[in-house]
Amino acid sequence: MTRPSLIAGNWKMNGMLADARALAKAIAGGHRPAAGNRSDVVLCPPAPLLLAVGEALAGSAVALGGQDCHAKPSGAFTGDVSARLLADIGCRYVIVGHSERRTLHGESDATVRAKAEAALAAGLIAIICVGETLAEREAGATASVLERQIDGSVPAAAAAATTVVAYEPVWAIGTGKVATTAQVAEAHGGLRRRLARNHADGGEFRLLYGGSVKPDNAGELLALPDVDGALVGGASLDAGQFLAIVAAARG
Ligand code: PGA
Repeated sequence: MTRPSLIAGNWKMNGMLADARALAKAIAGGHRPAAGNRSDVVLCPPAPLLLAVGEALAGSAVALGGQDCHAKPSGAFTGDVSARLLADIGCRYVIVGHSERRTLHGESDATVRAKAEAALAAGLIAIICVGETLAEREAGATASVLERQIDGSVPAAAAAATTVVAYEPVWAIGTGKVATTAQVAEAHGGLRRRLARNHADGGEFRLLYGGSVKPDNAGELLALPDVDGALVGGASLDAGQFLAIVAAARG
Protein backbone atom coordinates (compact mmCIF):
# COMPACT_ATOMS: atom_id res chain seq x y z
CA MET A 1 0.00 0.00 0.00
CA THR A 2 1.76 3.16 -1.14
CA ARG A 3 -0.82 5.78 -0.22
CA PRO A 4 0.19 7.65 2.96
CA SER A 5 -2.69 7.89 5.40
CA LEU A 6 -4.44 11.15 6.23
CA ILE A 7 -6.34 11.91 9.42
CA ALA A 8 -8.26 15.18 9.22
CA GLY A 9 -9.96 16.86 12.18
CA ASN A 10 -13.02 18.90 11.25
CA TRP A 11 -13.82 21.14 14.20
CA LYS A 12 -16.92 22.56 12.49
CA MET A 13 -18.34 25.63 14.30
CA ASN A 14 -16.83 24.72 17.65
CA GLY A 15 -14.30 26.30 19.96
CA MET A 16 -13.30 29.69 21.22
CA LEU A 17 -9.84 31.20 20.81
CA ALA A 18 -8.34 29.90 24.05
CA ASP A 19 -9.81 26.37 23.62
CA ALA A 20 -8.59 26.22 20.04
CA ARG A 21 -5.04 27.16 20.98
CA ALA A 22 -4.97 24.64 23.81
CA LEU A 23 -6.43 21.84 21.68
CA ALA A 24 -4.05 22.51 18.78
CA LYS A 25 -1.06 22.57 21.13
CA ALA A 26 -2.12 19.32 22.80
CA ILE A 27 -2.54 17.58 19.42
CA ALA A 28 0.70 18.99 18.00
CA GLY A 29 2.61 18.02 21.15
CA GLY A 30 1.13 14.53 21.23
CA HIS A 31 1.75 13.68 17.57
CA ARG A 32 5.33 12.51 17.23
CA PRO A 33 5.49 10.35 14.12
CA ALA A 34 8.38 7.90 13.93
CA ALA A 35 11.05 8.55 11.30
CA GLY A 36 9.86 7.33 7.92
CA ASN A 37 6.17 7.61 8.84
CA ARG A 38 4.53 9.35 5.87
CA SER A 39 1.10 9.75 7.39
CA ASP A 40 -0.47 13.21 7.34
CA VAL A 41 -2.53 14.89 10.02
CA VAL A 42 -4.50 18.11 9.50
CA LEU A 43 -6.72 20.26 11.70
CA CYS A 44 -9.53 22.32 10.17
CA PRO A 45 -10.73 24.94 12.67
CA PRO A 46 -13.33 27.66 12.07
CA ALA A 47 -11.94 30.36 9.75
CA PRO A 48 -11.39 33.08 12.39
CA LEU A 49 -9.23 30.65 14.39
CA LEU A 50 -6.98 29.59 11.52
CA LEU A 51 -4.14 31.99 12.27
CA ALA A 52 -4.05 31.20 15.98
CA VAL A 53 -4.21 27.45 15.34
CA GLY A 54 -1.52 27.80 12.67
CA GLU A 55 0.72 29.49 15.24
CA ALA A 56 0.05 26.73 17.75
CA LEU A 57 0.95 24.09 15.13
CA ALA A 58 4.12 25.82 13.91
CA GLY A 59 7.08 23.47 13.78
CA SER A 60 4.90 20.39 14.38
CA ALA A 61 3.94 17.53 12.05
CA VAL A 62 0.30 18.69 12.01
CA ALA A 63 -0.96 20.74 9.05
CA LEU A 64 -3.66 23.40 8.86
CA GLY A 65 -6.78 23.31 6.70
CA GLY A 66 -9.93 25.32 6.00
CA GLN A 67 -13.48 23.94 6.21
CA ASP A 68 -14.69 25.59 3.00
CA CYS A 69 -13.62 28.12 0.39
CA HIS A 70 -15.22 30.27 -2.27
CA ALA A 71 -14.82 29.39 -5.94
CA LYS A 72 -13.57 32.87 -6.87
CA PRO A 73 -10.13 34.25 -5.97
CA SER A 74 -11.47 37.56 -4.59
CA GLY A 75 -14.37 39.95 -4.90
CA ALA A 76 -17.70 41.06 -3.50
CA PHE A 77 -18.63 37.87 -1.63
CA THR A 78 -19.51 38.98 1.88
CA GLY A 79 -18.63 36.43 4.52
CA ASP A 80 -16.74 34.11 2.19
CA VAL A 81 -13.08 33.08 2.23
CA SER A 82 -11.00 32.42 -0.87
CA ALA A 83 -8.77 29.40 -1.35
CA ARG A 84 -5.91 31.80 -2.14
CA LEU A 85 -6.27 33.47 1.24
CA LEU A 86 -6.34 30.09 2.99
CA ALA A 87 -3.09 29.16 1.23
CA ASP A 88 -1.59 32.56 2.00
CA ILE A 89 -2.15 32.19 5.75
CA GLY A 90 -0.60 28.74 5.90
CA CYS A 91 -3.28 26.19 5.02
CA ARG A 92 -2.30 23.10 3.06
CA TYR A 93 -5.78 21.59 2.81
CA VAL A 94 -9.38 22.66 2.46
CA ILE A 95 -12.55 20.61 2.89
CA VAL A 96 -15.16 21.20 0.16
CA GLY A 97 -18.63 19.77 -0.28
CA HIS A 98 -19.17 18.62 3.28
CA SER A 99 -22.75 17.37 3.58
CA GLU A 100 -23.53 20.17 6.03
CA ARG A 101 -22.60 22.66 3.28
CA ARG A 102 -24.45 20.68 0.61
CA THR A 103 -27.59 20.47 2.76
CA LEU A 104 -27.61 23.65 4.85
CA HIS A 105 -26.09 25.96 2.22
CA GLY A 106 -27.59 24.31 -0.86
CA GLU A 107 -24.27 23.50 -2.51
CA SER A 108 -24.60 21.48 -5.70
CA ASP A 109 -22.02 19.16 -7.24
CA ALA A 110 -21.14 21.99 -9.68
CA THR A 111 -20.56 24.41 -6.79
CA VAL A 112 -18.38 21.88 -5.01
CA ARG A 113 -16.39 21.24 -8.17
CA ALA A 114 -15.82 24.99 -8.69
CA LYS A 115 -14.58 25.27 -5.09
CA ALA A 116 -12.29 22.29 -5.56
CA GLU A 117 -10.92 23.87 -8.75
CA ALA A 118 -10.19 27.06 -6.79
CA ALA A 119 -8.44 24.99 -4.12
CA LEU A 120 -6.23 23.27 -6.70
CA ALA A 121 -5.46 26.59 -8.39
CA ALA A 122 -4.36 27.97 -5.01
CA GLY A 123 -2.05 25.02 -4.44
CA LEU A 124 -4.20 23.50 -1.70
CA ILE A 125 -5.10 19.84 -1.33
CA ALA A 126 -8.88 19.57 -1.70
CA ILE A 127 -10.73 17.13 0.56
CA ILE A 128 -13.92 16.59 -1.45
CA CYS A 129 -16.78 15.06 0.54
CA VAL A 130 -19.42 12.75 -0.86
CA GLY A 131 -22.03 10.56 0.78
CA GLU A 132 -25.60 9.32 0.58
CA THR A 133 -28.53 10.19 2.84
CA LEU A 134 -30.40 7.49 4.74
CA ALA A 135 -33.31 7.74 2.29
CA GLU A 136 -30.94 7.24 -0.64
CA ARG A 137 -29.35 4.21 1.04
CA GLU A 138 -32.73 2.68 1.85
CA ALA A 139 -33.80 3.22 -1.77
CA GLY A 140 -30.76 1.24 -2.92
CA ALA A 141 -29.30 4.35 -4.58
CA THR A 142 -25.99 4.58 -2.68
CA ALA A 143 -23.74 3.54 -5.58
CA SER A 144 -25.46 5.78 -8.13
CA VAL A 145 -25.46 8.79 -5.75
CA LEU A 146 -21.74 8.36 -5.09
CA GLU A 147 -20.99 8.03 -8.80
CA ARG A 148 -23.01 11.16 -9.57
CA GLN A 149 -21.21 13.10 -6.83
CA ILE A 150 -17.78 11.93 -7.99
CA ASP A 151 -18.53 12.76 -11.62
CA GLY A 152 -19.97 16.17 -10.70
CA SER A 153 -17.76 17.29 -7.82
CA VAL A 154 -14.23 16.17 -8.66
CA PRO A 155 -12.48 18.48 -11.16
CA ALA A 156 -11.18 16.92 -14.37
CA ALA A 157 -7.71 18.21 -13.45
CA ALA A 158 -7.76 16.53 -10.04
CA ALA A 159 -4.91 14.15 -9.32
CA ALA A 160 -3.92 11.94 -6.40
CA ALA A 161 -1.31 14.41 -5.14
CA THR A 162 -3.81 17.27 -4.93
CA THR A 163 -7.15 15.68 -4.21
CA VAL A 164 -8.58 13.51 -1.45
CA VAL A 165 -12.11 12.10 -1.45
CA ALA A 166 -13.95 11.64 1.85
CA TYR A 167 -16.86 9.22 1.98
CA GLU A 168 -19.24 10.44 4.65
CA PRO A 169 -22.63 8.73 4.74
CA VAL A 170 -24.90 11.56 5.90
CA TRP A 171 -26.73 9.27 8.31
CA ALA A 172 -23.47 8.48 10.13
CA ILE A 173 -22.33 12.07 10.72
CA GLY A 174 -22.59 13.14 14.34
CA THR A 175 -25.12 10.41 15.05
CA GLY A 176 -22.92 7.79 16.67
CA LYS A 177 -24.13 5.41 13.91
CA VAL A 178 -20.98 4.28 12.18
CA ALA A 179 -21.24 2.49 8.84
CA THR A 180 -20.33 -1.19 8.99
CA THR A 181 -16.98 -2.25 7.62
CA ALA A 182 -18.84 -4.06 4.81
CA GLN A 183 -20.73 -0.87 3.88
CA VAL A 184 -17.54 1.19 3.95
CA ALA A 185 -15.57 -1.39 1.96
CA GLU A 186 -18.29 -1.53 -0.71
CA ALA A 187 -18.61 2.27 -0.98
CA HIS A 188 -14.85 2.83 -1.10
CA GLY A 189 -14.41 0.11 -3.71
CA GLY A 190 -17.01 1.84 -5.87
CA LEU A 191 -15.37 5.23 -5.36
CA ARG A 192 -11.97 3.80 -6.25
CA ARG A 193 -13.35 2.29 -9.49
CA ARG A 194 -15.13 5.51 -10.44
CA LEU A 195 -12.05 7.64 -9.82
CA ALA A 196 -9.91 5.20 -11.81
CA ARG A 197 -12.38 5.46 -14.70
CA ASN A 198 -12.29 9.29 -14.60
CA HIS A 199 -8.64 10.05 -13.80
CA ALA A 200 -5.32 8.64 -15.01
CA ASP A 201 -4.10 8.13 -11.43
CA GLY A 202 -7.57 7.68 -9.91
CA GLY A 203 -6.48 4.45 -8.26
CA GLU A 204 -4.03 6.42 -6.14
CA PHE A 205 -6.41 9.04 -4.70
CA ARG A 206 -6.57 8.87 -0.93
CA LEU A 207 -10.05 7.88 0.27
CA LEU A 208 -11.11 8.87 3.79
CA TYR A 209 -14.06 7.55 5.75
CA GLY A 210 -16.00 9.99 7.92
CA GLY A 211 -19.01 9.59 10.18
CA SER A 212 -18.76 8.91 13.93
CA VAL A 213 -15.13 7.77 13.78
CA LYS A 214 -13.97 7.19 17.37
CA PRO A 215 -10.91 5.54 18.93
CA ASP A 216 -12.83 2.28 19.41
CA ASN A 217 -13.87 1.88 15.76
CA ALA A 218 -10.94 3.59 14.00
CA GLY A 219 -8.74 0.49 13.97
CA GLU A 220 -11.11 -1.72 11.99
CA LEU A 221 -12.14 1.06 9.59
CA LEU A 222 -8.56 2.14 8.88
CA ALA A 223 -7.50 -1.47 8.31
CA LEU A 224 -9.78 -1.76 5.25
CA PRO A 225 -7.71 -1.84 2.06
CA ASP A 226 -9.45 1.11 0.36
CA VAL A 227 -9.61 3.30 3.47
CA ASP A 228 -6.62 5.64 3.57
CA GLY A 229 -7.65 7.74 6.51
CA ALA A 230 -10.48 9.43 8.33
CA LEU A 231 -12.34 12.72 8.46
CA VAL A 232 -13.15 13.15 12.13
CA GLY A 233 -15.72 15.57 13.55
CA GLY A 234 -16.75 15.17 17.18
CA ALA A 235 -13.73 13.11 18.27
CA SER A 236 -11.34 15.73 16.85
CA LEU A 237 -12.42 18.13 19.61
CA ASP A 238 -10.71 15.94 22.21
CA ALA A 239 -6.93 15.66 21.94
CA GLY A 240 -6.77 12.21 23.50
CA GLN A 241 -9.45 10.76 21.22
CA PHE A 242 -8.03 12.40 18.11
CA LEU A 243 -4.50 11.24 18.86
CA ALA A 244 -5.78 7.70 19.44
CA ILE A 245 -7.36 7.76 15.97
CA VAL A 246 -4.10 9.13 14.50
CA ALA A 247 -2.24 6.29 16.19
CA ALA A 248 -4.61 3.74 14.61
CA ALA A 249 -3.68 4.94 11.09
CA ARG A 250 -0.94 3.18 9.19
CA GLY A 251 2.28 5.05 8.51
P1 PGA B 1 -18.51 13.14 13.16
O1 PGA B 1 -18.39 14.16 11.91
O2 PGA B 1 -17.16 12.49 13.32
O3 PGA B 1 -18.87 14.03 14.32
O4 PGA B 1 -19.58 12.16 12.79
C1 PGA B 1 -17.68 13.81 10.76
C2 PGA B 1 -17.75 14.92 9.76
O5 PGA B 1 -18.81 15.52 9.61
O6 PGA B 1 -16.74 15.25 9.08
